[in-house]
Amino acid sequence: MTSTLIKGGSIVTATGLVRADILKVDGVITKVGVVEDTADEIINAVGHLIFPGLIDCHVHFREPGFEHKATMKSESVSARAGGVTCVCDMPNTNPPTVTVAALSDCIRRAKNITDCDIRFFFGVTSGIHLATLKDLWTSNSEELQSFKKRCCGVKLYLDHSTGNQKIEEDLIEEVFAACAECNIPIIAHCEDPEINRLAKAASMSEDIAEHSVMRPVKSEAKSIQKAIALVKKYNTAFHVAHLTSKRGLEFVTKAKAEGLPVTCEVAPHHLLLSTNDYKELGTLCKMNPPVRGVADNEALWQALEEGAVDCVASDHAPHTLAEKQEGRPLDAPSGVPGVETSLPILLNRLKPERIYKLMFENPNRIFGLGKEDIVEGSKADIVIVDATVKKEIHAADLHGMCRWTPFEGREVRGEVTRVV
Ligand code: DOR
Ligand code: ZN
Repeated sequence: MTSTLIKGGSIVTATGLVRADILKVDGVITKVGVVEDTADEIINAVGHLIFPGLIDCHVHFREPGFEHKATMKSESVSARAGGVTCVCDMPNTNPPTVTVAALSDCIRRAKNITDCDIRFFFGVTSGIHLATLKDLWTSNSEELQSFKKRCCGVKLYLDHSTGNQKIEEDLIEEVFAACAECNIPIIAHCEDPEINRLAKAASMSEDIAEHSVMRPVKSEAKSIQKAIALVKKYNTAFHVAHLTSKRGLEFVTKAKAEGLPVTCEVAPHHLLLSTNDYKELGTLCKMNPPVRGVADNEALWQALEEGAVDCVASDHAPHTLAEKQEGRPLDAPSGVPGVETSLPILLNRLKPERIYKLMFENPNRIFGLGKEDIVEGSKADIVIVDATVKKEIHAADLHGMCRWTPFEGREVRGEVTRVV
């Protein structure tokens, strides 16, 4: 039997902070309240914040297929160092997670990972994948039911991005109808392929900043608007991935006001980075959807503060520095790492109870992850954070494989001191 006592910390809940000791015995929280000083290990957490293990509902851990960029093991260590102990991994791996065989392989690999609980989105690009997904969700087979438990929903790319997984246009409506019927949450990368195609064709410049011009705000807004029209028709649970713009947000807010099951997430890079940063960061701030103007950064921060956005998800998408820096800048792979830096970025500006909702309560509910909170009888991970620490982000201090960050030198707040 091993016991750990965390003394005097402030547990973060949806409604504020609660001062209490926490006793964990053999992985189970046996007492929350006032606990006597008897345990194998006693951690003094006075003045520290205590979160349940945080959830990042949008990451690319690159395994299988791109282990030179990252692995489940390397990125799970990085996640945990940032207080994240559950992630939802995207299907643009190789092979892509669009078959039962690929999903079961991902699940088998994840079983060996102890730092982080990895769940998987199933990808759908053609009809056969949709048929497989329906089977996965409705089958009585014990094996398929066990796979379903590790699958958090379906990921749709409404335009191409890294991995070229754009769904066939005439299949989209069928997916919305089927997912509504089977109760499968959809998360979608919202960009409109036709608007992007025309913007790219009109582009004359080789400058990296052109990336944001070639994938404009109106592309995101149009794509969200079209998807919401399908939500209206079928009542599908629909989540907008990495929302970047005020205009996109307006469609989400309107849909929510109409009572539609629409939610959204924002990524830290769309809060901190703007088109002004291309000059200094070059391809290190190239991602899809791209960075926007500072007015959008501010609109998204405000939406987080006011509760108009449901989740913060990193869209952790590591590429090697060499891949980012070789060749024509506009051809560099899109994507930036971020799973380890979300919490200190948010602590710099948001109240802890807001972060609790954005990175625990809401993603847990939206994707049915079943993660437990810090209560007696639960096996919740306990993240202890010294929120008084002010520091700068440096790639050298991070644990992911790619060894660079678009947030180099940024001043943030808070340090994860332990995860129990
Ligand atoms: O910037 C991005 N990178 N956007 C995506 O949609 C995919 C991701 C990746 O996998 O690199
Ligand atoms: Zn992504």
